[in-house]
Amino acid sequence: MASDIDDDLGTDPDKLKFFSFNVFTQLSGAVTAGMIHLGDKLGLYRVLASAPQPLTTDEIAERASLDERWVREWAYNQAAANLLTADADGERFGLSPEGIAVLASPDHPASGTGMFHRFPQTMAALDLMPESFRTGVGHDYDSHGPEGAVGIERSFEPWNRHHLVPTVLPTLDGVVERLEQGIAVADIGCGAGGAVMMMAEAFPNSSFVGYDISRHALDRAEQRRRDSSATNARFVDPRDEPLPTDHSVGLVTTFDCIHDMVHPEETIAAIRAAISDDGIWLLVDIKGRDSFAENVEKNPMAALMYGISVLSCMSSALSEPGGAGLGTLGLPESKARQMSADAGFSRFERLPVDHSVNAFYAIRP
Ligand SMILES: C[S@@+](CC[C@H](N)C(=O)[O-])C[C@H]1O[C@@H](n2cnc3c(N)ncnc32)[C@H](O)[C@@H]1O
Repeated sequence: MASDIDDDLGTDPDKLKFFSFNVFTQLSGAVTAGMIHLGDKLGLYRVLASAPQPLTTDEIAERASLDERWVREWAYNQAAANLLTADADGERFGLSPEGIAVLASPDHPASGTGMFHRFPQTMAALDLMPESFRTGVGHDYDSHGPEGAVGIERSFEPWNRHHLVPTVLPTLDGVVERLEQGIAVADIGCGAGGAVMMMAEAFPNSSFVGYDISRHALDRAEQRRRDSSATNARFVDPRDEPLPTDHSVGLVTTFDCIHDMVHPEETIAAIRAAISDDGIWLLVDIKGRDSFAENVEKNPMAALMYGISVLSCMSSALSEPGGAGLGTLGLPESKARQMSADAGFSRFERLPVDHSVNAFYAIRP
């Protein structure tokens, strides 16, 4: 770390210290993210959440069947990062109700462990990046392996489980009634199939097809389909079975995937050809803004999102030469409006759904 150095760069000693502090704060966040991954994977948060708190590290280690010395050092990191509470002697540790919600309750709508589940796979992409920066060609979601697909699943599933069927679908005029009667539904970029299975279970008269190009995501989706009693869902790779082109699909959904696509304009054109005249495309995508400056001003997570874009979203969107490369924040409302109009959609409406990261749109022919 920088100390008071008399260099020939014209540095201001106070600004140098502050800049260094900022740099190492980023590293602190990255390392603590790794510790959150371990806490989740080793069940340490669940131990804290399920016992009368606070606990000593001996008690945590015993309940998690782990070695105390390692647990103690982990707990010190977590308390130093204000994720665990610690008593003045650093002997007993606890997890606040909010900590339990975000770190120890996979079904809570605020659960945040999904991104940390896939943290090692996301960071492993660093090895691939120098070549991508040279060639311009990135890597699709399968490059993150099967655990990458589970991490994506865990990232989106908790909120969806609480809100997709009860909150989001009713904002689409008449859709719930039509789903109850029976329509064809296509979920494109379906990932591990969570949204498809939730809707398929809620609307047994409708039929659902999830489309994804990720083998790992499709394997996971297929497993979920087998584990469910619903018989009205299936999952396919659109390169084997493209969307129908006969305007037979009453509802198309895309959750956080258009910005990941190599050729999003081709997918949007395929949606237009698939959708019925009275159909709706529910587009859910990251709340990007029109400029870099606006993203930084209005989104406290902008640095995280631009970084994830390099490692994951933009990389996927450039995984073949000539890709659109939109990336995590690359589909603001204005661009979504333009791209859907270019494909022949005539109505575009932003839906009144409150979400920390995503925007929701209803798009009609
Ligand atoms: C961030 S994940 C979202 C997955 C899922 N919709 C969810 O909400 O959990 C993006 C997904 O888009 C998929 N994808 C990327 N390009 C695609 C394409 N051209 N057609 C279908 N799926 C695609 C990826 O494989 C990945 O599973």
